[in-house]
Amino acid sequence: MGDQVKLSAGGADYDYAVLKGSVGPDVVDIRKLYAQTGMFTFDPGFTSTASCESALTYIDGDEGVLLHRGYPIGQLAENSSFMEVSYLLLNGELPSKDELEKFEFTISRHTMLHEQLRTFYTGFRRDAHPMSIMCGVVGALSAFYHDSTDISDPEHRTISSHRLIAKMPTIAAMAFKYAVGQPFLYPDNDLSYTGNFLRMTFGVPAEEYEVIPEVEKAMDRIFILHADHEQNASTSTVRLAGSSGANPFACIAAGIACLWGPAHGGANEAALNMLKEIGTPDKIPHYIERAKDKNDPFRLMGFGHRVYKNYDPRATVMQKTVREVFDALKVNDPLFETALRLEELALNDPYFIEKKLFPNVDFYSGIILSAIGFPTSMFTALFALARTVGWVAQWNEMISDPGQKIGRPRQLYTGPTQRDYVPLDKR
Ligand code: SDX
Repeated sequence: MGDQVKLSAGGADYDYAVLKGSVGPDVVDIRKLYAQTGMFTFDPGFTSTASCESALTYIDGDEGVLLHRGYPIGQLAENSSFMEVSYLLLNGELPSKDELEKFEFTISRHTMLHEQLRTFYTGFRRDAHPMSIMCGVVGALSAFYHDSTDISDPEHRTISSHRLIAKMPTIAAMAFKYAVGQPFLYPDNDLSYTGNFLRMTFGVPAEEYEVIPEVEKAMDRIFILHADHEQNASTSTVRLAGSSGANPFACIAAGIACLWGPAHGGANEAALNMLKEIGTPDKIPHYIERAKDKNDPFRLMGFGHRVYKNYDPRATVMQKTVREVFDALKVNDPLFETALRLEELALNDPYFIEKKLFPNVDFYSGIILSAIGFPTSMFTALFALARTVGWVAQWNEMISDPGQKIGRPRQLYTGPTQRDYVPLDKR
């Protein structure tokens, strides 16, 4: 008999099995709790709840560790590519040279959108937020790909996964082009996944677009840093949508909607807007005091994390990448100095130390994306582009589990108990 925990309730004792993973906290298997005790657990925000079993990504928030299929994010960011990390997340192992070439070829052959999807863009206002376009167009993909929505068919799941990973750069680039009133560019399969995205975004029909290798590498690394992150809010949304049997395009559209929130993926846009509002380092103390003021809703965007109570390892890589991009583009941005000073002051402030608030993945990303030429409104769309591989990998893992059930949490009901209807003339 493995480890057990004992719960005493209503004069009776109940034993629940302790399940162990390969690393990380053990879990108490409470699946029989309600049937045996008539009670639910209560965990709004799921701070102490494991929603599933997964072999994809492991985070140790106290040690600042992030592993994808066992490989540390720092090593992947330094040595791998987004396509290779995508293959790793989907298949569980690093690809051979041939496997990687075949995967990249397959993805490159799904980068085009159905021509009719181009008309979806003209239905949006030019100043529509790119994330509203991403939600709409990705959700609409299911209207065009009926041949790959049978989720019980592994082949369909694979094709849909490849289509989603491949088309996100095209959809995101088109959202940018539509906003600036420039013509859409078709994908160029002679370029890398990331180079193709940069060209579709910043290229124009009138001239040859030259991909700058250092920018391509920095963008690819940013995609790696955003690929997957365990059971975060948007991934949990994708899993919950998928648990009802919804098609993968609808599930990813649900994930995009959740990611948009400023407490989640929308923080990269909010963090740069915050740095712009702060402006110069001399204004920082005022904003730090506001962030600490319980009566002020202002928070330091790009700071804090539900899991990381130590440095977010992605922020470390991101900060290093800022200087590489500045050097490659021979640019500077005074907001970087403001960000560095803000981090230094916050990390020495008792409030942030006590609450273990460190910069997260969103704190520096906006400075790099802005230097590359993206408007702030595109930042979360880029996060969604990269996180799509994590969402589809987590969705595949769930759908392939024969024991998976529809997600259906319960509640602590605090509303009125039963009462009789009162006719209008008696109220
Ligand atoms: C992402 O989950 C993931 O893995 C997400 C993500 C991924 O890759 O998928 O990593 C991506 O979403 C990163 C997080 C981006 N969000 C932000 O940068 C927005 C700013 N951060 C916060 O809103 C907050 O830190 C959260 C939402 C990220 C985490 O919130 P928690 O875990 O629910 O923590 P909390 O809100 O309960 O905060 C704990 C305390 C509170 O104070 P008390 O009520 O205990 O007195 O810390 C304070 C908060 O007020 N606090 C902050 C703060 N973040 C938390 N105070 C000032 N500034 C902040 N940024």
